Amino acid sequence: MNTHRRQGIERGSEGAPLSSERSNSSEGGAAGAPLRVELDLTGATALVTGAGRGIGRSIALALAEAGADVAVNDFADEAACAAVVAEVEAFGRKGLVVMGDVSDEEQVNAMVERAEKDLGPLSVVVNNAGITRDNVAMMMDSADFDAVIATHLRGTFLVSKAAARRMFRRRTGCIINLSSVVGRRGNAGQANYAAAKAGIIGLTKSLAKELGARGVRVNAIAPGYIDTPMTQALPEETRQMIVDATPLRSIGTTDDVAAAVVYLASPAARFVTGVVLPVDGGLGI
Ligand SMILES: NC(=O)c1ccc[n+]([C@@H]2O[C@H](COP(=O)([O-])OP(=O)(O)OC[C@H]3O[C@@H](n4cnc5c(N)ncnc54)[C@H](O)[C@@H]3O)[C@@H](O)[C@H]2O)c1
Repeated sequence: MNTHRRQGIERGSEGAPLSSERSNSSEGGAAGAPLRVELDLTGATALVTGAGRGIGRSIALALAEAGADVAVNDFADEAACAAVVAEVEAFGRKGLVVMGDVSDEEQVNAMVERAEKDLGPLSVVVNNAGITRDNVAMMMDSADFDAVIATHLRGTFLVSKAAARRMFRRRTGCIINLSSVVGRRGNAGQANYAAAKAGIIGLTKSLAKELGARGVRVNAIAPGYIDTPMTQALPEETRQMIVDATPLRSIGTTDDVAAAVVYLASPAARFVTGVVLPVDGGLGI
């Protein structure tokens, strides 16, 4: 995909690609100089949670295609994770399955340690694992509230904490958290999910402030409705209502989200931290 993009890249001391000639020059670059947006991730090592299927799988593959080695985490379906690793390896990159529940601190610490032992220092961490337990708040079982908060918010905190301690010491790295349009706007029937996704925005911005001085970037992506097993369960009329409310008049693909992750992980985003990037066809406007 990106052989041509890899030409002319300088390497940093840790093998990470640096920004292109033009982005190293003064603001905006010299008039007439060619614009080279650098999305190459050669030398990067990534961990993606919840990557056995759906958006996480596409993120893992896009990172590998851009040049990163990838640790594939999930807590279910080890065979699916192994299949994702085989696809990562087909791009000529190293892959590793690290099974574990992101809401369990011991399991998180073990999987981050294992990823670093087998693949090397993590430079990209994507907090993607998620579940839904929808109901109107008045009828919602408190266990369903807790489970959603534990997976999304506690999970993102635990994985970020384990990775951030290492990235902080190394003075490099980036964390990308999956929020949602629902975290920005709320959604009837998803008080637990909306609260967790809104919490992830606060967590992302706080971490960006805590880690920025050490060169560690932390950003979030807020997808709209993306075609995955999570949304395929919606009734057809609900899907149509969503399409009608979306300025770009479609449901997104997992690759739409993966492309945003590659951008945020890449040298092209070296001056971007603390943002919540909507990938929602305009639904959140
Ligand atoms: N699909 C959408 O429209 C949409 C929209 C906005 C945000 N998102 C977010 O994107 C992310 C991925 O969504 P998806 O649609 O691909 O979902 P999905 O259900 O297809 O995949 C989620 C994956 O996370 C794994 N997982 C769940 N709990 C886990 C845990 N505790 N530890 C480790 N892995 C765990 C699941 O096994 C599954 O493989 C989620 O955070 C979701 O909230 C999705």
